[in-house]
Amino acid sequence: MSYQKKEVKSRYFPDFEQDLPSVKGRNVVITGTTSGTGNVAARVAARLGAKVLLLNRKSERATKSLAELKQSYPQAEIIAIECDLQSFGAVRKAADEIRRLCPEGVHVLANNAGVMALKDEATADGFDVQMQTNHLSHFLLTKELMPLLEKAAQTSGEARVVNHSSIARMNPKKNLLPEYLEKKGGKLGGDGANIFFGGARWVRYGQTKLANAAFTAALHQKLQAKGSKVKSLLAHPGLSNTGLQVTTVQDGGMGNFFTNMFMNLGQSQEDGAMGLISCMFKREVQSGEFFGPGSGPYALKGKAISMKLEPFYDNEPTRNLLWQKSCEAIGEDFKI
Ligand SMILES: NC(=O)c1ccc[n+]([C@@H]2O[C@H](COP(=O)([O-])OP(=O)(O)OC[C@H]3O[C@@H](n4cnc5c(N)ncnc54)[C@H](OP(=O)(O)O)[C@@H]3O)[C@@H](O)[C@H]2O)c1
Repeated sequence: MSYQKKEVKSRYFPDFEQDLPSVKGRNVVITGTTSGTGNVAARVAARLGAKVLLLNRKSERATKSLAELKQSYPQAEIIAIECDLQSFGAVRKAADEIRRLCPEGVHVLANNAGVMALKDEATADGFDVQMQTNHLSHFLLTKELMPLLEKAAQTSGEARVVNHSSIARMNPKKNLLPEYLEKKGGKLGGDGANIFFGGARWVRYGQTKLANAAFTAALHQKLQAKGSKVKSLLAHPGLSNTGLQVTTVQDGGMGNFFTNMFMNLGQSQEDGAMGLISCMFKREVQSGEFFGPGSGPYALKGKAISMKLEPFYDNEPTRNLLWQKSCEAIGEDFKI
């Protein structure tokens, strides 16, 4: 039988959840809510009173998870917007829809969706499937929604953009390389992978998660320079039992047996979502904060603590490289 997600008891989430403020009157956009950390974040947002906009590609999972959310929170305003992050056209269309639905602004944008260690394949736009899904489409979505984020920040005192990174941001050499952000999908090293998280699949994933972190740092720096009240924040979930590993096993990026053993080291998806949710809703967070269960390579589980962005991506050459190559990829300038 193929790998199934492990159901693990949450250690910290029940107490953590109690301490979150109401977000009534806030518009919250989340990508990738069919399962995992995004689904937990959507539930929390609905419970706390936000208008929740769920960006997912069309699937039975999306339909089912929407129905479950609406059933669990009948009083909440939950809106589904179709958005396949493998397509820049779909992202632009989703942004049009958000502009129509939230003319008063967007208070929280959670760039959560992701895929891991997939085959070396190109999207229809020509980019690596992992890089476009995990970073480039989120870069474009953030650019498209920035006027709405600024609008919400003017009226409410702040707005937040949250990117979801990983321990894999350190894999393998903490060095963002331009070719992974270029139109070279399908030509980035092939389908190799080994149980030490080596091989081309894992290098590509690591580059996407480093790009998430470098994007946060670059956005933070630009927003601060402008005196903006929009905050740029970073999260990582440690090792969490979500749908992520299921998809990777199905695609041949991890073996069944190994994944079954390895995921015993992981925490629940609720505990894993605490970093993301801290960035989205915790009181008094500062732009440039990083929440997760520690900053080292073995920070697999635990309470989400506040950390600083790290020098291996929060430096001028890396921030500039990330911005320039991402603008080239989306074919537009992103001016803050
Ligand atoms: N779980 C971990 O241990 C772990 C560790 C480090 C970082 N992360 C990060 O956490 C984030 C959330 O992942 P997760 O662990 O919660 O995994 P998950 O349960 O698989 O959730 C990922 C979500 O992303 C969506 N998604 C994938 N491709 C998409 C596309 N083309 N368009 C729109 N949505 C798409 C999935 O929707 P579909 O149903 O359509 O596939 C799903 O809703 C990711 O950025 C991941 O890199 C997770």
